[in-house]
Amino acid sequence: MTAPIVVRSPGKLFIAGEYAVVTPGEPAVLVAVDRYLTVRLTPSAHSGSIHSPEFGRTPLVWGRTGDGLTIDTEHHPYEYVLAAITLAERLRSERGLTAHYYDLHIDSGLDDASGRKFGLGSSAAVTIATIRAIDEFYGFGLSRRDAYRLALLATVQVAPQASGGDLAASAFGGWISYRSPDRRVLRQSLDEGASFAELLASPGWEPMDIARLTPPASLRFLVGWTGRPASTARLVDAVRDGSGAMDYPAFLLDSRACVTDLARALDEGDDSATLDAVRRARRLLRRLGRSAGVAIETDALAALCDTAESAGAAAKSSGAGGGDCGIVLAPEDADIAGMLRDWEERDIRHLTLSVSSAEGGAP
Ligand code: PMV
Repeated sequence: MTAPIVVRSPGKLFIAGEYAVVTPGEPAVLVAVDRYLTVRLTPSAHSGSIHSPEFGRTPLVWGRTGDGLTIDTEHHPYEYVLAAITLAERLRSERGLTAHYYDLHIDSGLDDASGRKFGLGSSAAVTIATIRAIDEFYGFGLSRRDAYRLALLATVQVAPQASGGDLAASAFGGWISYRSPDRRVLRQSLDEGASFAELLASPGWEPMDIARLTPPASLRFLVGWTGRPASTARLVDAVRDGSGAMDYPAFLLDSRACVTDLARALDEGDDSATLDAVRRARRLLRRLGRSAGVAIETDALAALCDTAESAGAAAKSSGAGGGDCGIVLAPEDADIAGMLRDWEERDIRHLTLSVSSAEGGAP
């Protein structure tokens, strides 16, 4: 029997640039974390299958609007897996390779043992890992950048507005800066049945940029979880709906300036400028939430950040907010022990994870 193919992809957290990065060409900074999702591919004979103990338990979540009920717009991870398989099979067919069946076993180390989601990007990690496993199976020889691009093309069919920053972090590991491509243009080419050569040459990729950043040498990276999983898609929709009442172009400009300063501070090893930029990014997101009428920084996230600030560190909500995680960058003299005690009293869980190492050379 052929040996299984095993691919492991890391989860991610946003450091800065959330929401703005949904607009093509606007920058964000992300890290990949040392918690992983694993896909194991084994060839099979008459049909393919997808197994995942965690994803199998994923419930359908509903909410209320006025008198009605709404289904959570967050998608089931299997949708991403199916979109990734469909696209990879299209590439196989274009390359004239013989079709085979395979079973995929997914093991997500991004959630906790009871299946609780921490918001570490399991949809992105499963999409990247599925593409890379099938790439290895058929021997496509995709570069990491092309694996990211295939994963992004799969993702835009499930979640058209997702920036794909999580895919880039999962594909490359470490600290990265990211600008998203124009997914509307890419989606149009996909819908028109463009070939892979055409898709990869699409002008939709022009605004995209992925670059490695230098990790801060003497700042500690800490993560707190406020215990309420948030729906990214719903929050992004709510901010889009609420952004009409505010000067969104000004937010984009401020966010771009802040993220650019952060990337420069990291590359120059300037810790105090790095901390300043994280604090600015927090203020920008709080202002965005207030103007759009969306609770990006919830009370629990505010408590997490304020405690970190009092301890001498910089902190902010990570990703869409509304719950999930906050990130902290702490200088060596920060009172981390005091901060963690305070978190515990407030039921904020310290996730003991670190930034994963960079993988696969330069993006
Ligand atoms: O909530 P997360 O960690 O999935 O991050 C979402 C970040 C947004 O910028 C709000 C959306 C996106 O697709 O980038």
